[in-house]
Amino acid sequence: MMKTLLTSAAITACAFAASAQTVGFSQIGSESGWRAAETTLTRQQAEERGIDLRFSDAQQRQENQIAAIRSFVAQGVDAILLAPVVATGWDSVLEEAKEAEIPVVLLDRRVDSSDDLYLTAVGSDLVHEGSVAGQWLVDNKPEGTCRVVELQGTTGSSPAIDRATGFRNAIEGNADIEIVRSQTGDFTRTGGKEVMESFLQAEAGNEICALYAHNDDMALGAIQAIKEAGMDPGDDILIVSIDAVPDIFQAMADGDANATVELTPNMAGPAFDALEAYWADGTEPEKFIQTESKLYTQSDDPMAEYEARKDLGY
Ligand code: AHR
Repeated sequence: MMKTLLTSAAITACAFAASAQTVGFSQIGSESGWRAAETTLTRQQAEERGIDLRFSDAQQRQENQIAAIRSFVAQGVDAILLAPVVATGWDSVLEEAKEAEIPVVLLDRRVDSSDDLYLTAVGSDLVHEGSVAGQWLVDNKPEGTCRVVELQGTTGSSPAIDRATGFRNAIEGNADIEIVRSQTGDFTRTGGKEVMESFLQAEAGNEICALYAHNDDMALGAIQAIKEAGMDPGDDILIVSIDAVPDIFQAMADGDANATVELTPNMAGPAFDALEAYWADGTEPEKFIQTESKLYTQSDDPMAEYEARKDLGY
């Protein structure tokens, strides 16, 4: 039955291939610099390819994303891009899109639904990102016990779940590294600052060796909190995070941050490549199109990395 649906969807797709394609994009919101860059690049990619992009900002709410997808289905778009805010609760609406023979491509986050319900997912290996950050700490922590605080991403989101797992996998077996506090900062700069302030208060008198933040924006907020508390981020407290936004490279150049793992904001390029092949002749992409996760440290010429990224919409 699934196969029949897919085949007929592919035939319908081929029939539409000659005319301008319309793609609905359900974006999570604008919680971080990385998210802003992903939105900018998606709009640019669509424009360059002559795709009519219909954009919907969910303002961090899954119910808004579900409503947007239903609206895209009602409009009869040719495909839907979905950056899912959380991992669960998508089965029904993805089934509706499938029933309407509209291919869905997941961007940057994963869902726990069957992969029959979407065409492909573009993103990084989120567990690996956390492991790269954890391994950096294992290799660079000072001698002796290292007490770590963790700023988690949005609760229930796949990057928050997987980046926590990957980091723990990497530090496992290092008895002198201990995560002493862990709380969500919701991937925002404000959240990172507020939660770091509460960590510093709660740990007053106890040394914090390192901060692991699930994204750079939370790390940047935390850096501010650490400075306001009279300490030296990047030195008194090591800072490792994920995304590689321009501001974290500025912080690295200033000695305030130590390492970041890059997540490319160009998810739309591979997504549109897959869709164009599918529209052209029904080519089914791999179910997961993986992007690279590269580690950057203070020795990687952070100002050059800042310059390379500063006009990309972050
Ligand atoms: O899903 C990717 C994550 O979402 C990015 O790391 C974070 O900055 C964003 O908000």
